[in-house]
Amino acid sequence: MTRFSGDSVVEKVLITEEAIAARVAELGSAIARDYAGQDLRLLTVLRGGLFFLADLARAIDSHLTLDFMAVSSFSAGTGGAVRITKDLDDSIEGAAVVVVEDIIDTGLTLNYVLSVLKGRGPASLEVCTLLDKDIRRIVDLPIAYRGFSVPDRFLVGYGLDLGGRLRNLPYIATVDEAALT
Ligand code: IMP
Ligand code: MG
Repeated sequence: MTRFSGDSVVEKVLITEEAIAARVAELGSAIARDYAGQDLRLLTVLRGGLFFLADLARAIDSHLTLDFMAVSSFSAGTGGAVRITKDLDDSIEGAAVVVVEDIIDTGLTLNYVLSVLKGRGPASLEVCTLLDKDIRRIVDLPIAYRGFSVPDRFLVGYGLDLGGRLRNLPYIATVDEAALT
């Protein structure tokens, strides 16, 4: 099943648009309940987390604010070095922060992000990830909200990219192995 004409990269839909929407609604309700009356700040790491963030924020029936950061990770061969390429615009001191992620793989990127954020004095700091490739985890991370546990396959869609493309697929899919070489 492919969406873009002439595109044969997508192998199989793993999580449908409907399944994503249903799970996002559940996560949004849980966050709204847990953070009632607090200064909730949703942070996401560009660019993959954007789609999930936009839907999740609309599924949270309470006041919140958004902020963004970007990092570049060089996990391969550099011992998981991560660099902030775009920092948050606002202070998170005293805020109830939820970091919204598209996928956690080795966990190295998020581990770095959390260590930086922790030093800035938020009232609380939790993680909400849509996808968890838990079998690949190198550093153990506390994940308060998790959408789906996924197998160790390269995934695209709903924010996840292959060479910058396919983020705009409305579902999450596996790709043909040949496209990865
Ligand atoms: P980690 O530091 O290994 O946890 O890397 C997490 C980041 O790797 C995610 O934010 C994605 O940008 C990227 N990533 C991990 N798995 C996939 C995948 O299956 N498809 C696309 N990007 C992925
Ligand atoms: Mg990412």
